[in-house]
Amino acid sequence: MKDINDLGLLVDSNVPLIIIESHEEKRVLATVSRLASKRNIPCYSWTVTEGLKQIRIGFNFDKTPVDKEPDEVLASIKSNNQTALYVLNDFHPYLENEPRRIRMLKDIALDYKEIRQTVIFLSYRFSMPPDIKPFSAFFEMSLPSREQIVRLIKDEVAHWSTKNSGLKVQSDKLTIGKLIDSLQGVSLPEAKRLIRSAIIDDGAITKSDLPELNKTKFKLMDMDGVLTYEYEMANMNEVGGLRTLKGWLYKRREVLHGNNPSGLDNPKGILLLGVQGGGKSMAAKAVASHWHLPLLRLDFGSLYNKYYGETERNLRESLKIADTMAPCVLWMDEIEKGISAGLDDQGVSKRLLSTLLTWMAEREKMVFVAATANDVRKLPPELIRKGRLDEIFFVDLPDQEVRKEIFTIHLQKRGLGHKLYDVENLAEVSEGFSGAEIEQAIVAALYSIAGNGTELTSANIMEEINNTSPLSVVMAEDIAGLRVWASGRAVAAN
Ligand SMILES: Nc1ncnc2c1ncn2[C@@H]1O[C@H](COP(=O)(O)OP(=O)(O)OP(=O)(O)O)[C@@H](O)[C@H]1O
Ligand SMILES: [Mg+2]
Repeated sequence: MKDINDLGLLVDSNVPLIIIESHEEKRVLATVSRLASKRNIPCYSWTVTEGLKQIRIGFNFDKTPVDKEPDEVLASIKSNNQTALYVLNDFHPYLENEPRRIRMLKDIALDYKEIRQTVIFLSYRFSMPPDIKPFSAFFEMSLPSREQIVRLIKDEVAHWSTKNSGLKVQSDKLTIGKLIDSLQGVSLPEAKRLIRSAIIDDGAITKSDLPELNKTKFKLMDMDGVLTYEYEMANMNEVGGLRTLKGWLYKRREVLHGNNPSGLDNPKGILLLGVQGGGKSMAAKAVASHWHLPLLRLDFGSLYNKYYGETERNLRESLKIADTMAPCVLWMDEIEKGISAGLDDQGVSKRLLSTLLTWMAEREKMVFVAATANDVRKLPPELIRKGRLDEIFFVDLPDQEVRKEIFTIHLQKRGLGHKLYDVENLAEVSEGFSGAEIEQAIVAALYSIAGNGTELTSANIMEEINNTSPLSVVMAEDIAGLRVWASGRAVAAN
């Protein structure tokens, strides 16, 4: 009902071209045809396979398809002189490099004052050619309300019971509450499918259904590489050092899981800044597993490449999806590459930054940003201004104690008992090595003995250490610069 009224308002405000981006063709058609019947005007729907047909409250009456070709349907709209609503389904490919069709639509729009024909483009994605953009507006179909979702869950529970000789679906209040939260942001038919698949395997809605449901929900939203659901999260136990950071995260874990008697604010985000191979990406990923939250990754690289010309809009969409996945961790790796100032990109990076900052300032949902960066010179000052993020952590090279931890972690990871190795000595001689370089020394040592039939020894690792020129030597100046920048601006993560 709300959609019919809202769409009616848009039609009344004299917009000749309306865009509705949705997968729910049937629901949109029902909404448009109900509006038409309320107004007592005809409503038509066009597809390239079926041509143009008149529809009445979702049913179509015409048997023989007419005006199948895109040119024909536009000509038919243009020549018709009655007030009507036209829904053009999946018309988007037929406007690409088609100046004639674009002009036809402009003609229709220009005639709108005399003949009120509203053309509604219904596609999953639609980008309006600039020539006719001023005559157009977007309309967003409403998403199901909390009450609708609750009703749907009740219906599905009853449905399962009837089919299973009156057995009751097992669940508890807390899980149902979380289920309702997780179903925000999807359409009703999708929500129905998600609830069914949660119940069907074991006749119960349990905590263990939720991660699977979140993954499926995320797939429905399809951001094609720009926003991805990370299945493999790093484990905080496998990150050596970074004690201050870990303590900070630990303190906030309880608040996130509802234990918040003093009403503390939800954490907003952190930026991990520092030398290459220091474990920034790894730590950012580990935040999600530490907090038991889903991890989403926003890839600025794909944002630029995949949708040339639609970069900001895709960022907005990705952030919207992240909101519907809340509570979650949104990982933005090497953020300076996406939004650094001074790129020759006609201001795209500037606009991206402002989209991001606006979202950060206005967001109400618990979407925790875990960003990483290497190059402070490219970081826009607006991003690191106090208040945007909770904290900036500087990840410096590990000291001897932490190097010991990192050796131990990586030896254990490869099934090598660390007690057999002189970790103390290895840590001492690897002064200036990053975590990644320590790991690399172990990997290279393993290669050096492969096929020898011998076991790895501390001497093998030592040899690799001696053969390595760590980045701290090669890039000594850069690292010194980074330290100067970070002192006073960032908190030491270690
Ligand atoms: N503190 C650490 N503890 C354990 N392993 C580490 C640590 N730091 C780095 N590593 C190892 O090095 C690998 C690379 O680290 P990671 O990619 O997280 O570093 P980074 O700081 O993001 O580097 P870059 O700036 O190059 O992106 C990790 O996957 C991990 O195996
Ligand atoms: Mg990294």
